[in-house]
Amino acid sequence: MGVPQHIAIIMDGNGRWAASRGLPRTAGHTQGAKNVERICLAAKKLGVKYLTLYAFSTENWSRPQPEVKALMKLLEGYLDRCQKTVEENKMRLRVIGDITRLDPKLQEKIKDAQQISAIYHDLNLTIAINYGSRDEMVRAMRKMCEDVKADKRLISEITPESFSEYLDTKDIPDPDLLIRTSGELRLSNYLLWQLAYSEMYFTDIAWPDFDEKELEKAINAFSSRDRRYGGIQEEKNV
Ligand code: IPE
Ligand code: IPE
Ligand code: MG
Repeated sequence: MGVPQHIAIIMDGNGRWAASRGLPRTAGHTQGAKNVERICLAAKKLGVKYLTLYAFSTENWSRPQPEVKALMKLLEGYLDRCQKTVEENKMRLRVIGDITRLDPKLQEKIKDAQQISAIYHDLNLTIAINYGSRDEMVRAMRKMCEDVKADKRLISEITPESFSEYLDTKDIPDPDLLIRTSGELRLSNYLLWQLAYSEMYFTDIAWPDFDEKELEKAINAFSSRDRRYGGIQEEKNV
């Protein structure tokens, strides 16, 4: 297998990265936000077409308010700066998650960035903000039920394919590879539907230290796997 077309990443470990250096957690988030640019560039260079990053989960609101505020500020800062990365990488930016809960100013910036970058397609960066898979699926189900109620869709037309069309990720293919940094071995409510057949790669490296070399390592691990979709291994030449 070659380079994955779509890599999804759970960018974890900013807090521990900072704590191990005697720094406040927010310093880890600042470093983590900087790393997004580095990984976008690396992904583009390696031939990855879709990169989907988990930036803020529906559960992350339960963190201390100053930390939530700092994370929102960093997201805003990223959106302010991203024009350069967008042009350099010919990158289309999308946001998934329920953005209606975000500050209206941030919502505007998201809409602008999405609109400005819509002309590009070399790299497709999707950032998950206030994203949770269960929330996404419930929102999708509500929309689907409304369509059924309005006679726009028949119940018999509900299939895995048509359901996917209601998800935030409707415009992007399913990830081929999921990477989670910093040692945790769970999905934390990320892309539960879309990751059904993705390969998983877990590393102890914290997100701020996850560089181009580490990305290459993950891709090499992916390439050496025997990927199946419920079938059998391809016959080897004897
Ligand atoms: C990931 O780092 C960033 C977000 C979840 C926003 P963490 O903040 O979860 O870092 P750890 O897991 O506490 O080290
Ligand atoms: C998942 O990381 C969310 C993001 C990376 C944005 P967390 O650090 O919040 O996940 P848990 O709480 O350890 O499962
Ligand atoms: Mg964490």
